[in-house]
Amino acid sequence: MADLSYLVAVRESYDTVAAAYADIVPPPARLDPVSRGMLEAFAEVVGNARLGAVADVGCGPGKVTAYLDERGVGDVLGVDLSAAMVGQARRAYPRLPFVVGSMTALPVADGTLGGVLAYYSTHHTPPEELPTVFGEFHRALAPGGQLMLAGHVGDRDGDGERLRPTEAYCGLPVSYTSYLLPPERIAELLRRAGFVLTARLTQEPGEGARRRSGTFFARKPDGS
Ligand SMILES: C[S@@+](CC[C@H](N)C(=O)[O-])C[C@H]1O[C@@H](n2cnc3c(N)ncnc32)[C@H](O)[C@@H]1O
Repeated sequence: MADLSYLVAVRESYDTVAAAYADIVPPPARLDPVSRGMLEAFAEVVGNARLGAVADVGCGPGKVTAYLDERGVGDVLGVDLSAAMVGQARRAYPRLPFVVGSMTALPVADGTLGGVLAYYSTHHTPPEELPTVFGEFHRALAPGGQLMLAGHVGDRDGDGERLRPTEAYCGLPVSYTSYLLPPERIAELLRRAGFVLTARLTQEPGEGARRRSGTFFARKPDGS
């Protein structure tokens, strides 16, 4: 049985920081070229395939959702646990649909999404709950649908590092945990959820990034 109690801390923390986050975190157009290139590649793949709407899961203030929309991927949907984040997104992009919801139970029917983007949004999920989340991504995607997952990764084996910051985004109080899993562990969990891993990139700290990050492209096989 899944233990979803961690979601309370995640929701409360992002409700607290939502306005500051929207001010501070730059839009995709101001990302480093490699990160932007990965988003661009995802937009091209899902935009060409057109298998269904593209969900930005853990969309925060919606800047990445809007970027995908501008790239012409077709219908987009932003989903976030934090009502304050969804409020920010709706105010900034009133034309686009944003809903409060969790990646542990996505508010979409089976096999209906052409793409799922999880952009820096899965690292608060305890490793033992990631099979539930990756299973949801797989359930929601149409056969042939594309997942892009990007986020902080660790370099220790096993469950990697755990961070328990008490403040973030200019000193605001937070109570979530960040789990920095090694890239191979994330890749293995995606495979176990039924995905075919098609590409993987690791970016090292420096050049503006404080932490190591990983980007994974994975496809739900046809006929599954
Ligand atoms: C670091 S922010 C990233 C926001 C956005 N993807 C971006 O790149 O600007 C992480 C977001 O993931 C959301 N999140 C974390 N766990 C979630 C879950 N289980 N379901 C939905 N959203 C979640 C948080 O509420 C927060 O808005």
